[in-house]
Amino acid sequence: MNFDFFMPVKVIFGQDRKKDLGKLVGGRKTMIVTDAVMVKLGLIDSIKACIDAEVIVFDGIEPNPTVESVNEAARIGRAQKIECVIGVGGGSSMDAAKAIATMITAEGDFDDYFYGTRLITNKRVGLYVMPTTSGTGSEVTSVGVFTDKKKNFKKPFLSNEFFVDAAILDSTLTHTMPKRVTAVTGFDAFCHAIEAYWSVNAQPISDGAGLLACDLVIRNLKKAFDDGSDSTARDNMAMASLMAGVAFSQTRTTACHGISYPLTTYGKFDHGSACAITLVSFIRFNYSVATEKMDRLIAFCGFKSNDELADFMQNLMEYTGMITKLSAAGIDEGMLDTIVDEGFAHNLTKLNPRVVDKDSLSKILKALF
Ligand SMILES: [Fe+2]
Repeated sequence: MNFDFFMPVKVIFGQDRKKDLGKLVGGRKTMIVTDAVMVKLGLIDSIKACIDAEVIVFDGIEPNPTVESVNEAARIGRAQKIECVIGVGGGSSMDAAKAIATMITAEGDFDDYFYGTRLITNKRVGLYVMPTTSGTGSEVTSVGVFTDKKKNFKKPFLSNEFFVDAAILDSTLTHTMPKRVTAVTGFDAFCHAIEAYWSVNAQPISDGAGLLACDLVIRNLKKAFDDGSDSTARDNMAMASLMAGVAFSQTRTTACHGISYPLTTYGKFDHGSACAITLVSFIRFNYSVATEKMDRLIAFCGFKSNDELADFMQNLMEYTGMITKLSAAGIDEGMLDTIVDEGFAHNLTKLNPRVVDKDSLSKILKALF
């Protein structure tokens, strides 16, 4: 078997590890990239207190980070001679920080790179991330998802410069996460883990990480949801997000993520909900071709059958208030043809272990009304 594994990110994990930032940053002039909520919660002040250098804060990152925000922050970064960027927040702030750190030393605007008219050849400034949610896995991937507001166009962007120098997973930063965000990001992590595990690109290291991440979500998501201050459950969910990120950083994701993009475009979904809504359907759909492998995961996670795993995930979705019906997100059957067509646009659906065609995808979605 041939496979490559490349994930050049130092991981610093544990309670109160934000204190390690001081050593990492040294005396470099720093920009913290975040959103206004993190500032309001006082998290940014507590992080600034760990750094012994000049720090400026860019708190203009929106839920779907835009090409425009990246350009604006990079312009400030160049003018201020920023040497180091720290992304603090969920996937949006981390993705934006990756692009900003890269664009500070690049020529031109991010638009040129986003649309492929220019290739990244520069080395970015120092880059660190501190996730405050447990799910996106962005801390260990080379991907960011960006929206061009002018063209209403959203897509993932990949670059090896987007692998951060260090990811600091201090789960005390996740205690403030509301219940809904805990559920949505937890399911995103589970989708990353299981999609990496059953992907046609799967390989031994991603299999090990994916397997462990699935088990961690199964054993800890409900606990973290019920009691946000349960530091063991929060630690385990941060670990699940990390392991799932390691797994899908090598394999990419599959059909659940593939169809999530048009679902977020046409329905009132956030990313995790859009991925999770087809999760149970694909657990059942994929079993017939990935039987041996899925049996290993089912046993590892303490279940007796694929149906038991699928039922457990369905019940967990309902318990945590996840969206389980397309109509609840404002999708009507008339939109299905377009959604199905666009579900194949990012090629992720082709990485599903069982071949998904338009008919099978339509059938899966129709059953979710
Ligand atoms: Fe995701």
